Amino acid sequence: TLSEKDKNIVKTFWAKVAGREEQIGCDAVSRMLTVYPQTKTYFSHWKDLSPGSDPVRKHGGIVMAAVTDAVSKTDDLTGALLSLSELHAFTLRVDPANFKVLSHNLLVVLSTTFSNDFTPEVHVAIDKFLTAVALALSEKYR
Ligand code: HEM
Repeated sequence: TLSEKDKNIVKTFWAKVAGREEQIGCDAVSRMLTVYPQTKTYFSHWKDLSPGSDPVRKHGGIVMAAVTDAVSKTDDLTGALLSLSELHAFTLRVDPANFKVLSHNLLVVLSTTFSNDFTPEVHVAIDKFLTAVALALSEKYR
């Protein structure tokens, strides 16, 4: 679980992400679709799944807005993400193993985009936060 210290580190780091959500989300989703092509099956209704395409960019912004919202609700991630969990479980039918895959890709993109700020301390706090987000999104699958 996230300690108060972890939560503070995540919030401080996320202030640097502000204003760059769409680009970072686009890079993370692009990387996920490229490195883990099995994830493409969920987006087969998009016109263009190539890295940086319009739908990938738009979706990257949507996902990052949800993650940014979660950063402000670290005291109750399960509650904050419950309706998104429901959507992914029952409507989108996304295998919850994929939440870890996207989290990993987002971690990689954050580390390369903010290489100076991405200290081991930040790394562990963001990793714990994204793991908690993935767990909260898996709630409705139980
Ligand atoms: C849609 C968030 C992971 C597949 C969405 C939406 C949000 C979101 C906010 C839009 C919901 C709406 O329209 O009301 C997240 C977050 C994730 C995550 C925060 C993890 C950090 C994943 C993963 C997959 C996935 C790993 C599949 C590999 C989808 C699909 C849609 C969607 C297929 C609908 C997209 C469309 O039709 O354009 N997600 N998601 N999500 N998500 Fe996720």
